[in-house]
Amino acid sequence: MDRIVILTGAGISAESGLGTFRDAGGIWSEHRIEDVATPEGFARDPARAHRFYNARRAMAARARPNAAHVALARLQAAHRGEVVIVTQNVDALHEAAGSRRVIHMHGELARALCAACGHRWQAPAEMSGQDACPRCRARACRPDVVWFGEIPYRMDEIMGHLAAARLFAAIGTSGQVWPAAGFAETAARAGAHCVEINPEPSAVAGDFHEALRGRASEVVPGWVAGLLGEAQLP
Ligand code: OAD
Repeated sequence: MDRIVILTGAGISAESGLGTFRDAGGIWSEHRIEDVATPEGFARDPARAHRFYNARRAMAARARPNAAHVALARLQAAHRGEVVIVTQNVDALHEAAGSRRVIHMHGELARALCAACGHRWQAPAEMSGQDACPRCRARACRPDVVWFGEIPYRMDEIMGHLAAARLFAAIGTSGQVWPAAGFAETAARAGAHCVEINPEPSAVAGDFHEALRGRASEVVPGWVAGLLGEAQLP
């Protein structure tokens, strides 16, 4: 089976105007992870966490996919084998570009989760600690995003795809957050050719066979054209 697995991170959405986490001026230079991206921080001050995610949800709703998202959607549509996109991003820009097969391993801003009963639903534009779960009525609503200390979604499925991949690519991710940082090593061990597309070497750059350095919107369209066997302009 000719399976391609693509991992994306905040860098692919940077040129759509959504900030990355660890670059200079990134999200984690303005907010403390312990406050807004851990279950303990949420329990301490739900209003602060909701404000943070409400602002990010509003920005994500305004953002438009860039040439890299569009190229990956084109690859999914045109490649004769399976192309699985695994994203750490909580925006919906892959879907907005037309991708269908997207695994959101860190959840989605557009979804809400009841911490009391596990029910999930479409998040309103603004969530608050006063919201009641539509199913159990508990006031324990949170964004359906994965926080530090929690297990990312659909890991068994992702591991199955990595084990069967012929090609693995990581685009716009710093390789500092696990388990995603270990995907290249897993895919390489299973026999996949591994490509890193990022302006600078990630923390796990040594696990890749090939590096394409540059911004996603500049590099990914040409890389996709090459995979599809299309002639490229010099
Ligand atoms: P990071 O902010 O850690 O890394 C973003 C990467 O994108 C960096 O390596 C940048 O060099 C690169 N980058 C910047 N601009 C780019 C561009 N135009 N094109 C391509 N790459 C570019 O973001 P992630 O690796 O996605 O999780 O972070 C992983 C996880 O850490 C996130 O999902 C989030 C965060 O904490 C949780 O909150 C659980």
